[in-house]
Amino acid sequence: MGNVFVLDHPLIQHKLTYIRDKNTGTKEFRELVDEVAMLMAFEITRNLPLQEKIVETPVTEANASVLAGKKIGLVPILRAGLGMVDGMLKLIPAAKVGHVGLYRDPETLQPVEYYIKLPSDIHERELIVIDPMLATGGSANETIHSLKKRGAQNIRLMCLVAAPEGVEMLKEEHPDVDIYLAALDEKLNEHGYIVPGLGDAGDRLFGTK
Ligand code: URA
Repeated sequence: MGNVFVLDHPLIQHKLTYIRDKNTGTKEFRELVDEVAMLMAFEITRNLPLQEKIVETPVTEANASVLAGKKIGLVPILRAGLGMVDGMLKLIPAAKVGHVGLYRDPETLQPVEYYIKLPSDIHERELIVIDPMLATGGSANETIHSLKKRGAQNIRLMCLVAAPEGVEMLKEEHPDVDIYLAALDEKLNEHGYIVPGLGDAGDRLFGTK
């Protein structure tokens, strides 16, 4: 069963408060999202398996550890997911990065994939889907279905802020996917915004609107 982890580290929570603040400008917003992504990467990778490696230190031979097994792939959902990629790559510089773009069909209101480009070996990778806002869950759900259809076997989802509605939808559709959040908020409002949330993550990251 997929688990939901709210990463309540004080540094993450402190920075998230300033991310939420409507008076935080684009430059600072971007920097804070980058920093929180890095801190979240630290927590998300906590259970990656290690294997032994012998190294020669300047003093003697040492039994040390390196990461074993699955390599990592980051999959930001365009466009807001891009804001968390660099922070993740600071801690996991060898990760490959795929991209998924979706738009919402104005008639059905369902997400439709318009772009996807992935590393060729996603079936061997531990994939981390990145979307700062898990609102209805439609985009993350569609992305994860798309990755599974292409052979992905291990997927985690990383978001800054989620609404309960999105978490429930993901737990139902993808019980195998662990979800990592900086905060689980109250609800969605009638415009589809997370409450209290932080507004439109893409607009705040890129200074649009
Ligand atoms: N997407 C956003 O950027 N913000 C929300 O509150 C919901 C979806």
